Amino acid sequence: MKKIIAAFSCLLMVLGLSANQVEPLFLNVATDNSSLVLGVGQDGKLYIQHYGAPVGCESQFEGYQTGRRVDYGTDDFAYPARGGRYYNQPALAVCYADGDCNTELTYVSHTITQSPSVVKTEILLRDVKTLLEVTLIYEAYQKEDVIVSHSVIKNGGKKRVYLDSYASSSMAFPAGKHLLTHFYGSWAREMQVAREILTPGVKTIQNRMGIRTTHTENPSFLLSLHSDSWSETQGEVVAGALAWSGNYKLDFQMDESQKLVVIAGINPEAARYPLDKGAEFETPNMIWTWSGEGAGRASRNLHDWSRRYQCYSQAEVVPTLLNSWEGAYFDFTTRTLTDMIDDAADMGLEMFVLDDGWFASGEFARNDSRHGLGDWEVNAEKLPEGIDYIADYAHQKGLKFGIWIEPEMVNKASRLAQEHPEWIVQSKDRELTTTRGQWVLDLTNPQVQDFVFGVFDRTMQLSDHIDYIKWDCNRHVESFGSTYLKDQERFYVDYTQALYKIMRRIRAKYPEVIIQSCSSGGGRVDYGALAYFDEVWTSDNTEALSRVFIQYGTNLIYPACVTGSHVSAVPSHQTGNMTPLKFRFDIAAAGRIGMELQPKDLTAEEKVFARQAISSYKTYRDLVFSGDLYRLCSPYDGNHYAIMYASKDKSRAVVMAYCIRYQARTLKPYFRLQGLDPDKEYKIYELNTENSSFWGNGKVFSGKYLMNHGINPALLKLYDSAIFMIEENK
Ligand code: DGJ
Repeated sequence: MKKIIAAFSCLLMVLGLSANQVEPLFLNVATDNSSLVLGVGQDGKLYIQHYGAPVGCESQFEGYQTGRRVDYGTDDFAYPARGGRYYNQPALAVCYADGDCNTELTYVSHTITQSPSVVKTEILLRDVKTLLEVTLIYEAYQKEDVIVSHSVIKNGGKKRVYLDSYASSSMAFPAGKHLLTHFYGSWAREMQVAREILTPGVKTIQNRMGIRTTHTENPSFLLSLHSDSWSETQGEVVAGALAWSGNYKLDFQMDESQKLVVIAGINPEAARYPLDKGAEFETPNMIWTWSGEGAGRASRNLHDWSRRYQCYSQAEVVPTLLNSWEGAYFDFTTRTLTDMIDDAADMGLEMFVLDDGWFASGEFARNDSRHGLGDWEVNAEKLPEGIDYIADYAHQKGLKFGIWIEPEMVNKASRLAQEHPEWIVQSKDRELTTTRGQWVLDLTNPQVQDFVFGVFDRTMQLSDHIDYIKWDCNRHVESFGSTYLKDQERFYVDYTQALYKIMRRIRAKYPEVIIQSCSSGGGRVDYGALAYFDEVWTSDNTEALSRVFIQYGTNLIYPACVTGSHVSAVPSHQTGNMTPLKFRFDIAAAGRIGMELQPKDLTAEEKVFARQAISSYKTYRDLVFSGDLYRLCSPYDGNHYAIMYASKDKSRAVVMAYCIRYQARTLKPYFRLQGLDPDKEYKIYELNTENSSFWGNGKVFSGKYLMNHGINPALLKLYDSAIFMIEENK
């Protein structure tokens, strides 16, 4: 509240007005270290004046001139609408019943409300001719320097209108050289990092697959402002992420005057949205953060914010686990599973997850990926003792129990497909293409929503001992369409909204069950899904070297506490690569550790190592789940990759370092630590080995030494790795 009063009196000071006379012209959406200044111009339009470090009294912007000539469009609207003088990428584009496709939004009013840690500013804009209204909502999370922004569009006119574009948020940045970091990839190589200097024109990050939208790109980015290079510790960095699990579009438009406008929201392609008289459309949240201390701080801001406010799990620890998939695939009996449970218990794991293959019977039995989806009864031929027996067995061994479902899908070879062909996503008189022998169910249909909820609900009823559900989703949408919807262009938006509706229903009934968002690996990794799911399956690629890049990219935006990370067999089922067991464990330790192999194939010695690595992980996982992530070196830049997680009070940290390319026997890497207290003394000791790679193992060093000089472990050979505990020496 202090901030609002200060901002308000700052305004009065400049205008020389008393409180009841004033019409506020400037709004400061401020956090502890950042400020978004919005101003109403003399033309009544709402402009973005500034986003970045605080600038003091916002009314200093009075009379501000950008120098833009009128034949070069408009200055930066807070929510640029197609029409009038604005011709660049629009956040909003509407066509009205009389054929007019212009919208010109002017400021009407605003409100500011405050809860202990969030200041919410809502600004009402209106098009005078059509009475279309837009409310812009900015929630400023003070401590985390995060501004969450979205819009609500209301048809205040008398007839139906069509929304051609309906972005969540727009942000403007000064002319300059800006480095964009974004993500690309495919199945088993998600979240690879691409970096490029933005040039005049429009750079678009988008997905149009409907579901499984984050294999090939991700609705998130980092933008190093006024810089052509990446820095973890220095310079201005803005990071953004859209909380939406459907089609998305993020446009970065650098115009004639080299000013940059970023517009983010639902992808309106094939989704022209009808809005009837009086109806409202609420767009998903766009999350922004600004850092004046490089990319490291920007990531930590997002991690802190999401752990506190967005992620369902809110950093509670998801148990270590053994997943049956790569160890057994579809080929198991009850005995296979109980043996795996015995081995998991023996190695100190805390949960067993039965993956795909436990359901459907007879001709549709789920013994391969082309059968059974939709027929969610236990396959009694394969598992005559039932799921309860296995779950109970796990609990008796002290393990939690989880099970896999893929409720949005149906195999062609299933009873459900025969009984309800109208529930399948389809376009009339077009071929129904299959992937993995399966089709997508039409979630826009309320009957299908009930069915999908029912799949979850019935699975939970299979036993009183189900603690975890792995929710998979193994294809994207093709030939989009619905036998239920009157307006086919609503399909993509309504599908994602329906998914969230189902998840809300599930969470109302099952608030405690841990749910993983899996989509052929990392196909549904976004902050929209994370509002309902406790964690994501980052990739089907469990090979440790590939994981380095997948985890590095994922954790630029998403916190480690939501990323499942498994140790699998060698040669890797995905890449054929051979990596040492220690390297595999040390890589998995950077997220929520799991194992995904047949424990019977491990040697006795390997099992001993696994037991010890799992046990040591439990001593520092609180840091992985709730600590501050510092990236000490990037896998893209050299022969090593190193990160650390430090406790908020700077009393403990864990450092993880890896050699990912052979360099030369004589060159030891140096890792300068971060996030410690320079004035504290710390003891350093290496875990998961009897022969430490560091000459200073067990010694005490000052925070200054560790941060200004660094450590130089002998990680010389390919796949050498080390995990160090750093503890304050009191
Ligand atoms: C894809 C998932 O990503 C895998 O982990 C596994 O669950 C398979 N589906 C099962 O079909």
